[in-house]
Amino acid sequence: MARKTRKVTIVGSGLVGAACAYSMINQSICDEIMMVDRTYDRAVAQALDLSHCMDFTSTRTKVYAGDLEDCRDVDVVVLTAGANPKPGQSRLDVLEAAEQITSGIVNRIMGSGFDGIFVVAANPVDVVTHIVREVSGLPRNKVIGTGTSLDSARLKTLLSDVFSIDPRSVQGYALGEHGDSQFVAWSHVTIGGKPILQILEQHKERFQGVDLKEIAQKTKDAGWEIFTRKGNTQFGIGNALAYIVRSILNDEHKIIAISAILEGEYGQTGVCAGVPAIIGEGGIQEVVELNLNAEEQHKFNESCSIIKNAIQGLAS
Ligand code: LAC
Repeated sequence: MARKTRKVTIVGSGLVGAACAYSMINQSICDEIMMVDRTYDRAVAQALDLSHCMDFTSTRTKVYAGDLEDCRDVDVVVLTAGANPKPGQSRLDVLEAAEQITSGIVNRIMGSGFDGIFVVAANPVDVVTHIVREVSGLPRNKVIGTGTSLDSARLKTLLSDVFSIDPRSVQGYALGEHGDSQFVAWSHVTIGGKPILQILEQHKERFQGVDLKEIAQKTKDAGWEIFTRKGNTQFGIGNALAYIVRSILNDEHKIIAISAILEGEYGQTGVCAGVPAIIGEGGIQEVVELNLNAEEQHKFNESCSIIKNAIQGLAS
């Protein structure tokens, strides 16, 4: 019996788009990848280059260049194209440019008859995810931002170094904005199922040098550290995107800290923020509500206010 062809479009064929495609090819996540870029030649070149991986990978993924108008039967559109801040530009300048670029792209994709799922990485990701939802009119389960998935991965990597534990044996999340107001929900960080706060309490001497504030700060700063040294990030975010797309296409039900439009969860409505959610066929299947302590809930609310203000700034 013929299996349905799983198609992914990557909008933006720069470093992030290419890293995402490369990761998907090497993990055999889909059957076809269409690369799109405002510079068509760049999409063609990336598609060609990526297609030359195929002899060395375990399955064949067809990679080709296309247009936004070709998205009708695509399952997932990955949005990496956006506005990159230039020296001297204010945050709002970037937001306005991001809104214009995103609206233009999403309108053209929707015009093609697209009825799949958007996975958004373009920054500022929580605001851009909100814009994609507004412009597309799709239900909230079909619009997913990368949110704090990468920040949570960075947190786990840092903790894995401190405790000499595989990051996959660390559970925990950075929540809120994929930006400066994010925070780590320490009351829900566990290592091998054991709460980190309990571990530190029980082994005071052994872990006396462990400073959770510093780890949270490093988690937050990780993107900037890379950005200031090489001008961009690509591999972490490329893999985070591939991880989300894989969970959708394989209906894996992975719990990932993505950016979702909240509908009452965590006491917030109509704002996009990083929260854990079950990701599977159809996109967001459920937002997981952690019982945050009072301090964490306060930080979450503050982070949501910052995102809301940015969205309201756009509307005015
Ligand atoms: C980062 C970019 C994707 O944090 O915001 O790497």
